[in-house]
Amino acid sequence: MLKTGDEWTLLFEIETLRGLEEFAASELKQTIGIKMARNRVDYRGRLAPLLSLRTAVAVHRYERFEGSRPTVILGDQRLREMLKFVTSADKFTGFRISSPGKDSAALRRVRDSVAASTGLPEHPEGDLLVRIRRDHTGWEVLVRVTARSLSTRPWRVADMPGALHATMAAVMVDLTAPRRTDRILNLCCGSGTLLAETRHGKHLIGVDNADPALQAARANLAAANRTRKDTVPTSLLRADAGKLPLTAQSIDVLLSDLPYGHTIGNHQDNRSLYPAILSEAARLASPGARFAACTQDMRLFEASITSDWHLEKQLRVHQRRAIPAIYLLRRTLT
Ligand SMILES: C[S@@+](CC[C@H](N)C(=O)[O-])C[C@H]1O[C@@H](n2cnc3c(N)ncnc32)[C@H](O)[C@@H]1O
Repeated sequence: MLKTGDEWTLLFEIETLRGLEEFAASELKQTIGIKMARNRVDYRGRLAPLLSLRTAVAVHRYERFEGSRPTVILGDQRLREMLKFVTSADKFTGFRISSPGKDSAALRRVRDSVAASTGLPEHPEGDLLVRIRRDHTGWEVLVRVTARSLSTRPWRVADMPGALHATMAAVMVDLTAPRRTDRILNLCCGSGTLLAETRHGKHLIGVDNADPALQAARANLAAANRTRKDTVPTSLLRADAGKLPLTAQSIDVLLSDLPYGHTIGNHQDNRSLYPAILSEAARLASPGARFAACTQDMRLFEASITSDWHLEKQLRVHQRRAIPAIYLLRRTLT
């Protein structure tokens, strides 16, 4: 298990989704008081706070080895120390290496050395991740410090196709800066990622028109609430997000991961759904309410923004197969 009581100063790389680096930097500053530069931190202290980052995908021990051949990694005590540090921090079942020229003789020796140092077998799905990268004059080695990425949340007990990346959900929630007195509504809540990532508020309402999505959300929220001291009272509602049985101006924060029109929904339906959702959101929003929404159907979403909303921020987020956008809207004062 994690040795959260140990103290040291070491170099780490904080992996983020591309486009969300500034949020991890500001979370590090706010929660630990340290500065991130080019996704790296010199960190001294207990490991636990670093592993509590909500906007980071993963934390890796990082070292750079000067020299043109990968054998410079082998001749150095630091690789063994990195592996020793990481394997004493979490439990692993096997290792996997991602590197250029994986089958070269030199990198085969690196793999043998990792196997010998850790006593773990190499496996395509190994949970001890060793990443080797080449730069102009040397080699960078990263070893992920946890067996699962930080974005694989312990509360996720029910998955759903098209579920939102948890770090993206955390950023969307943070953009709306929820206060303890805020009434919060998650339109098209699916399996409840945005609900589970919301820690503050007076109450939360999740809306979806599909029963399996609501069942998944219920299971995920129950798991999330089991581990939290303060929970926000939450209700789930099966309804059309474009026509809700809620009072006008009764919501201070809105969140929505809209159907992108690929895995979930289709572009044709989105043409009526997006304007309907933005119009219903405008009816329900209190003056100055914040609305964080994400989609990959950007042109349609932007065309659906009426004068009820002021566009405060737009971000592109690079995921493996998609580059969706996050929008922060503010309800104009009426
Ligand atoms: C992209 S998914 C949301 C995924 C969710 N963020 C998660 O992490 O699981 C979009 C959701 O919108 C729901 N949906 C589609 N049309 C809707 C409508 N008219 N009213 C309410 N929900 C709708 C779908 O059932 C689906 O669960």
